[in-house]
Amino acid sequence: YKIAVLISGSGSNLQAIIDRIEQNVLDARITRVISNKPGVSGLERAERHGLSTTVIEHKDYPSREDFDAALVRVIQDSGADGVILAGFMRIITPVLINAFPGNILNIHPSIQPAFPGVHAQKQAAEYAVKLSGCSIHFVDEKMDHGPIIIQAAVPALAGDDEKSLGSRILALEHRIFPQAVQWLAQNRLEINGRTVNVLNA
Ligand code: GRF
Repeated sequence: YKIAVLISGSGSNLQAIIDRIEQNVLDARITRVISNKPGVSGLERAERHGLSTTVIEHKDYPSREDFDAALVRVIQDSGADGVILAGFMRIITPVLINAFPGNILNIHPSIQPAFPGVHAQKQAAEYAVKLSGCSIHFVDEKMDHGPIIIQAAVPALAGDDEKSLGSRILALEHRIFPQAVQWLAQNRLEINGRTVNVLNA
């Protein structure tokens, strides 16, 4: 199963996926790493592992749709079957969604549907939740809204702020994201309306 991984920053989720592929516990191949920002450490991580990278800057395009059309071209040229949004900080449009139906995953650092949008960890810390966590979901045309595949929860501790809660969540992101990609790669994810079932191997 071939994947294009889209990033915007540090790429620690990309790194988790690379690690499991190299440990032979994830049956996928990364055909391209695409960043909408140049010079981010996620690109260095990719290059260190011999992966081909492309920078496509959203500011170079007149509309979200034109940007997405450029993404689709590069992703399709790479031969990817699926698209993994790993800390990709752009809203994608039906132009990209419809090019890979049922094959686009995103990670959101909250127990959805709580705290959609950016800085979910900050929202949770400020709300003084007792539990937070992360969700991997299929991407549909609404932000942070698609059918949920897997979630993991962490306790929020007294004195937690965005940084402390965020790093506790990030450690779990690195476990559930590769798991979700593996299920996708094994074609074990069945979607019925909002419900995602993981079929046995
Ligand atoms: C993380 O907070 C993740 O939850 C969010 O993007 C941030 C950076 O992820 N999706 P990464 O280190 O670039 O994978």
